Amino acid sequence: MLHPAHERRLCRVDDVPDGGALALTDGDDDLLLTRCGDAVSAFHNVCPHAGQRLDWAPGKFLIRDGVLVCAAHGASFAALSGACLGGPCRGDGLRAIGLRVVEGEVRRVPE
Ligand code: FES
Repeated sequence: MLHPAHERRLCRVDDVPDGGALALTDGDDDLLLTRCGDAVSAFHNVCPHAGQRLDWAPGKFLIRDGVLVCAAHGASFAALSGACLGGPCRGDGLRAIGLRVVEGEVRRVPE
């Protein structure tokens, strides 16, 4: 089991809009967090198609009904799993970050 000292606090669950996404930086990593109710996921904010950020402006994502669309060329991803549903990288997926939620706090766990 990982010791909590190795975990890093990213934000609170409530900081991520329900049904939306939040961009944040953790060290050298640009991350995006998605949320559906109590479920939160985190990914590198790097599209598997051409390596661009998924937001069209910092922190502004095209996300609706559980589908996140890359602003660069329109690849679509399941917001919680990161699986690519369509577009130029269909069958690929976003690179997930390990998370743990403790008392409403979202923590990154070492990979
Ligand atoms: S970089 Fe995301 S669809 Fe091309």
